[in-house]
Amino acid sequence: MNPTGRPRDESAPQRVGAEGRPVSHAEIVAVAGPVLRARASGAFALREAVEVGDHALLGEVVKLDGDEIVVQVYEDTAGLRPGVAVEGSGAPLSVPLGPGLLGRMFDGLLRPLVRGETPFVRPGMRRAAGEVFAFTPLARPGDELPAGAIFGEAAREGLPAQACLLPPTAGGTVVSIAPGGALADTAVACTLRDASGAERGVAMRHAWPVRTPRPVLARRVPDAPLITGQRVLDTLFPVARGGKAAIPGGFGTGKTVLLEALAKGCDADVIVYLGCGERGNEMAGVLAEFPELVDPRTGRALMERTVVIANTSNMPVSAREASIYSAATVAEYFRDQGLHVALMADSTSRWAEALREVSGRFGELPGEGGYPAYLASRIAEFYERAAIADTLCGRVGSVTVIGAISPPSGDFSEPVTSHTKRYVKAFWALDVQRAQARFYPAIHPLQSYAEDAAAFAPWWTSHGNSRWLELRRRFLTLLDEQARLERMARIVGKDALPARQQLALTCADVLNEAFLRQSAFSPVDRRCGPARQGAMMRVTARFLDLAQAAVEAGVAPERIPRLDAYRPLLRMGEEIGEDELERFDALEAALEREFAALVGGAPPAGA
Ligand SMILES: Nc1ncnc2c1ncn2[C@@H]1O[C@H](COP(=O)(O)OP(=O)(O)OP(=O)(O)O)[C@@H](O)[C@H]1O
Ligand SMILES: [Mg+2]
Repeated sequence: MNPTGRPRDESAPQRVGAEGRPVSHAEIVAVAGPVLRARASGAFALREAVEVGDHALLGEVVKLDGDEIVVQVYEDTAGLRPGVAVEGSGAPLSVPLGPGLLGRMFDGLLRPLVRGETPFVRPGMRRAAGEVFAFTPLARPGDELPAGAIFGEAAREGLPAQACLLPPTAGGTVVSIAPGGALADTAVACTLRDASGAERGVAMRHAWPVRTPRPVLARRVPDAPLITGQRVLDTLFPVARGGKAAIPGGFGTGKTVLLEALAKGCDADVIVYLGCGERGNEMAGVLAEFPELVDPRTGRALMERTVVIANTSNMPVSAREASIYSAATVAEYFRDQGLHVALMADSTSRWAEALREVSGRFGELPGEGGYPAYLASRIAEFYERAAIADTLCGRVGSVTVIGAISPPSGDFSEPVTSHTKRYVKAFWALDVQRAQARFYPAIHPLQSYAEDAAAFAPWWTSHGNSRWLELRRRFLTLLDEQARLERMARIVGKDALPARQQLALTCADVLNEAFLRQSAFSPVDRRCGPARQGAMMRVTARFLDLAQAAVEAGVAPERIPRLDAYRPLLRMGEEIGEDELERFDALEAALEREFAALVGGAPPAGA
């Protein structure tokens, strides 16, 4: 008997791993939390997945050190002791990808979480065995399929059919393919013969190493925005389809509410939501709320086109570290089917803390903020998985990555925020003061930015808003001016400012209140589509023009907020729905009439 309690049969044929290499064994010499050292008898590879002890706990080789290996274990290591066996798998840490993902919740290593139960995964529990789907073949014997091609469709009760992909490593001539009908996602659905004559069976589900980005034919340059449904983002700080955005924000500034609003309102086909929490109840919230969310597009459960990955409080930190890669891999898998995917991570700071903790256990020298020196490259690797690309199956798909950051005490100069800033194109800084004033979304208009906004002007033009870029610049300039004038007004008093500057402050108030403010909880306004945004931009800009002309004609700025149409203007987002766009024309006409009366009745300029 060896220390695992399992008899080891020396005469049994040697097990081989997924890559055909004999698997290796090792014995634990020391355990420190989720990290253990083991003496190896056989060659382990870096990043190889291993099973530890009787319960076959899942782990990963993170360091090779002479004849010893260092293993990060993704489950509770209580009870492990020196002498316990570690078995290699011959393959890197991988997750199963297939039609069973959509509409479900998983832990950081893609093991299913059961709804209704406290999120809990039994030690060593693997992903559930094969699940049956209605399979439809989309290829015939004799067809030549390139690696990563679509060979069929899988449907499950109540869900739309999903494409079944060959693994990116398998292509060839179809030898046989399962007929339409019920089939387990683990059963061979298609047999291929490759150029060397070797045959290989593929199932609807295949494994992919989490830390390896899935290949594409070609990356494209993003030129269209991901419409988020949030005016402040789509108009001022747009993110590309296939782009990267970060939401840094101090405690309680609205990161989670904003991410959920994006999950509900953005125009992605599939949402991958990674809950990377610290407190157990935070995750319990995500797990309880997500299945209740309604998809505004279909009126059905949002969960139908969502995959939730949640780190449960009973899982060790190392699983939290791995979860971000699992989420990226799942997002790429849907991209590879030619879908547009939004990957949201809440929050990447918790992931970075896990990285820090695990690194500490390895005895690595801490760098800035106690984080390991490779923090920046890990953050880069994560955001690099965002792309819009020509996929192996001949379609175009994208992954847009949006990561929340929770900087300690809201300090954006801390390492996670400052490194992330180098890699994202859209930076959506949440402002404590705006949040305290309950101005939501609390996006700071001057600290936030979007680097490639100008590239989206053609998209907006082709969607009926040819003034988008011009108005965006005008709005940003006004917000910048507001900040300057407010500083001045604090010193000299608002009344001491010249009329033109008082007007600028009034105009900035209108821009903020009428256009940028948008409640995630308003039934009318929680999502704002491009057409309504365009109409609201136009009305807001018309107001700015009319107000400026009126003041130039001698109207006192303080008279403007007393117009009858002023309040309806401030409340237009709440009052006018997506399918009532003609009411914006009526509002614009009312503003024009009232300003005309105001100017007509005003004393001439200089009088
Ligand atoms: N867009 C919004 N519309 C309306 N209310 C909001 C919005 N964003 C935030 N809030 C309000 O602010 C509260 C806190 O928001 P949220 O939980 O998203 O903050 P957070 O930044 O995720 O906090 P934490 O740092 O604890 O994770 C919400 O409960 C809600 O009342
Ligand atoms: Mg939160």
